[in-house]
Amino acid sequence: MHKKNLLYAQSGGVTPVINATACGLIETARQNKAALGRVFAGKDGIIGILKEELIDTSKERKADIAALRHTPGGAFGSCRFKLGSADESKAHYARLIDVFKAHDIGYFFYNGGGDSADTANKVSQFGARLGFPVQCIGVPKTIDNDLPITDNCPGFGSVAKYVAVSIMEASLDVVSMASSSTRVFVLEVMGRHAGWIAAAGGLAQSKKGDPPHVILFPEILLDEKALLKKVDQAVKKHGYCSVVVSEGVRDQQGRFLADSGRRDAFGHAQLGGVAPVIANMISQSLGYKNHWAVSDYLQRSARHVASKTDVDQAYAMGKAAIQLALKGRTGVMPVVVRTADQPYRWKVGEAPLDKVANQEKMMPRRFISADGFGITAAARRYLEPLIRGEDYPPYDRRGLPKYVRLKNQLLAKKLPPFKP
Ligand code: F6P
Repeated sequence: MHKKNLLYAQSGGVTPVINATACGLIETARQNKAALGRVFAGKDGIIGILKEELIDTSKERKADIAALRHTPGGAFGSCRFKLGSADESKAHYARLIDVFKAHDIGYFFYNGGGDSADTANKVSQFGARLGFPVQCIGVPKTIDNDLPITDNCPGFGSVAKYVAVSIMEASLDVVSMASSSTRVFVLEVMGRHAGWIAAAGGLAQSKKGDPPHVILFPEILLDEKALLKKVDQAVKKHGYCSVVVSEGVRDQQGRFLADSGRRDAFGHAQLGGVAPVIANMISQSLGYKNHWAVSDYLQRSARHVASKTDVDQAYAMGKAAIQLALKGRTGVMPVVVRTADQPYRWKVGEAPLDKVANQEKMMPRRFISADGFGITAAARRYLEPLIRGEDYPPYDRRGLPKYVRLKNQLLAKKLPPFKP
């Protein structure tokens, strides 16, 4: 039997557990050597595929592939690169198919968010049209947790845990000196247009009055007067106020408070820097001393405090992607299906890529408290299981995590150069 090779690529912003997905995928492919060829990976994502820079993962040691499960970042490199419609980006699709042909690729796995699901779907259609069918499987990933259909997205649970732990710990610091020093602490988190990560800050609370006292969501336009009132009330009642703010918070006109003016290849605004805006707003009006922090890439790479649920699901998505390939499926993505809240149970399901592509799942209004500054019991029920469990990386004698760096050996090129 002729065994076709597999091509895997990481796409978009990385997560603390995207390599756990790569690990699940490569280990499962290696267990199915009778049916599957070698696993290659795009260097720096789809850009590497276009440039015919393909990493041969069969050159990596078993132990190093296993170590991907606990290593953050994107082990093969990632990128944000937009492929347009089949007509707009004809040369790119044709080049992808040429690369697939040259290296006998029968399966393409694209590990990313909504934009990547769209690309994988188009590649699947384009290959069929050119008479070179490739099984294209999307593999879910995004810390933003905004993909439709799947109950949650691998990467989110660990970021959620980092944010909940961080605001809990920082609040213990603030409260220690609040009577004579800092009264307000503002933590900025990612999530772009969806407030899932900000909402996770609310998991730090175990009873009424616990921090964070205020959460600012992209889904709720900022009411400055109401915010100041809420902060002042918290300081008067508890002596201090902890705030979690999403980078995607917008003013009453719907404009981002922290739009840097820069756009990525998909036209997304580069956000970041809303924490100092909010902290300034508060200190100028209320006069309270403040500190602020932007968790930025720290939250996206904090594998040391990953959620076990998240790591398990990330691995399972990689494994399921291979199982779908073995079943002959194309244009699909494995998803997480929640079967029960308490006790939490989940299983792997399957979604068509065209239903996942280019959509963002926002926080439903019923997950946000009536005043717009907190989360509800329903949100807590949804979020809590996702941060559950610890999965610490091994540590070395220096006291640092033992993260793996792969050899990432490239295959010999067979085609003329191409400029993406
Ligand atoms: O991948 C999603 C995300 O992490 C967003 O939450 C954030 O706004 C964005 O990526 C940052 O992207 P980049 O690292 O490309 O600037």
